[in-house]
Amino acid sequence: MKRVAILISGGGSNMVALARSMTGAHPGRAVLVASNDPKAGGLAKAAEMGIATAAVDHRAFGKDRAAFEAALLEPILAVEPDVVCLAGFMRVLTPGFVERFAGRMLNIHPSLLPKYPGLHTHQRALDAGEAQAGCTVHEVTPVLDDGPVLGQARVPVLAGDTADSLAARVLVQEHRLYPAVLRRFLEGDRTPVFLSETA
Ligand code: GRF
Repeated sequence: MKRVAILISGGGSNMVALARSMTGAHPGRAVLVASNDPKAGGLAKAAEMGIATAAVDHRAFGKDRAAFEAALLEPILAVEPDVVCLAGFMRVLTPGFVERFAGRMLNIHPSLLPKYPGLHTHQRALDAGEAQAGCTVHEVTPVLDDGPVLGQARVPVLAGDTADSLAARVLVQEHRLYPAVLRRFLEGDRTPVFLSETA
């Protein structure tokens, strides 16, 4: 059984989708949900699901990113994860942290990478007049939002879409894509998963 730690910063809807998928014959189990925000709504959801939680408030460390990450590493290393999933985790991790989980840390990003790395992805796609948008699960490497793509899900951009309406449409696909990619990844298969919104 592979041990999966999930890092969140907010509501944790992707964490919930991942945790719910890891049952029965699935090769993985969620062993920890950790957050940089003690008030992250996802922590209560994880606790309700019986998953161990940890929170390290990054604000307590000011600009000392390394000290924050050293504190965050403690509960993560304590559960001896095989894989770490970033799921709505909004802190940039240093190369030192990333290297510790090289080849076994995944992230979901709300754009069709390599387009629109970084923030405000949906507004940028709308401003550019894109006909399609979506999300990407990729291996985390020291360069932000840049690692090998493990899966993508596409949605149409519709007339009248706002960043919020597009984000909501993409989020539905995130909850399909991330569990599908994680399962394949845990089975040792790195063949990318490509989904498109069912009509
Ligand atoms: C999602 O849009 C995800 O793509 C981004 O964070 C947002 C919230 O994720 N990384 P969650 O509901 O906290 O999983």
